[in-house]
Amino acid sequence: MFKDLVMKALPPRVRDHFDALAEAADVLAQVKNPNVLRSLGPSGVRGLLLHRGKQGIPTTVPARHSAYFDWTYPNDQPEMRELFQRAKAGQWDSDRDLPWHTSVDPLNPERRLLPANFIDHGALEREGARLSELEHRKLDYSICAWMLSQFLHGEQGALFAAAQVTEAVQFFDGKLYGSTQVMDEGRHVEVFSRYLQEKLERLYQVNDNLFVIIDALMADGRWDMKFLGMQIMVEGLALGAFSTLYRVTNEPLLRELLKRVIMDEARHVHYGVVALREHFKSALTDAERREREEWTFEVSLLMQNRFMAYEVFDEWFAGGRLSREAWRRVVMNSPGMNEFRSLMFSRLMPNLRELGLVPERMLRRYESAGLLQYMLGKSAPELTAEDLLSDLDRGRTANQAAALA
Ligand SMILES: [Fe+2]
Ligand SMILES: [Fe+2]
Repeated sequence: MFKDLVMKALPPRVRDHFDALAEAADVLAQVKNPNVLRSLGPSGVRGLLLHRGKQGIPTTVPARHSAYFDWTYPNDQPEMRELFQRAKAGQWDSDRDLPWHTSVDPLNPERRLLPANFIDHGALEREGARLSELEHRKLDYSICAWMLSQFLHGEQGALFAAAQVTEAVQFFDGKLYGSTQVMDEGRHVEVFSRYLQEKLERLYQVNDNLFVIIDALMADGRWDMKFLGMQIMVEGLALGAFSTLYRVTNEPLLRELLKRVIMDEARHVHYGVVALREHFKSALTDAERREREEWTFEVSLLMQNRFMAYEVFDEWFAGGRLSREAWRRVVMNSPGMNEFRSLMFSRLMPNLRELGLVPERMLRRYESAGLLQYMLGKSAPELTAEDLLSDLDRGRTANQAAALA
């Protein structure tokens, strides 16, 4: 109450600055396990307080993993070998396979990048920001360019993580497979960056929370944590985000681009599950397993409500008619964000279950975070990319039918 009164009395820019600091403190306070705090804390400071991703200069992150060589070149993991064969056969060339000639007008109401209700404009108005119809479309354009920029930054992280994981993994077949993932992620960087430059002519800076996760994973020396973070958590996040946009966008080039990327990403998650399943069952002490269970839960919480498009807020509303806190309320409750959260966790949770990372003692905590409901779906090896895409297409058709009814 007292805090609310003080916040109201402050000039808007100072108020929003305090809000950002309070939110950063809240993120760090949310982490309860000391081991988890040790592994995420330094990245939290670099990302949330020092804004290292936003200084307009390249960022360096020290890496501490070991490259693992095997001079006998064994065939040691048939499922990974098979994934390697499939990945080789599934390579595509963005110049040849995507319709780059498509002209994209981000403000065209007939081929909307995002549906009109992706951000709840009614809620925005109720919070005091009334926008004209054209401003609505411009704001949606900003949100879409922001999302794609975060995809691009995430893909840069995935490219470097795939390279690190290829060095560090101890299965030789995993290294061969990893080489295809490095190529996949390079292609993803290429297509998102080209789409943003040529079609949307915009690029937003990296979101601080995304920076924290990438920074922490780059620096972690333990290969299985890198795998868990990148191949399971961040790839799950990416699949949820790509799927949301794939399902709702009416822009044909973007849809085709996302479809190709989703096919690759489904393979990446599959690889992560195969690599970690055996390792978690047999190679960890009880204390190490517990740490990974806690880490997974806490990173899930960090990913749940942390992608609030503040970079768009800064561009549109900072110091003006809407507070940062009000913007957060609007984004948090927007239909597009709800769908993103639900798709992300329905991809992620079954994989965590499959890896044995959700023991009975953690069920209540997942339930109180609202995440238990996502646990029962198909996990990565059974859920193929084709299933995933046809689920999304079905959801899209049902939505269109509902809109016409
Ligand atoms: Fe990717
Ligand atoms: Fe990936």
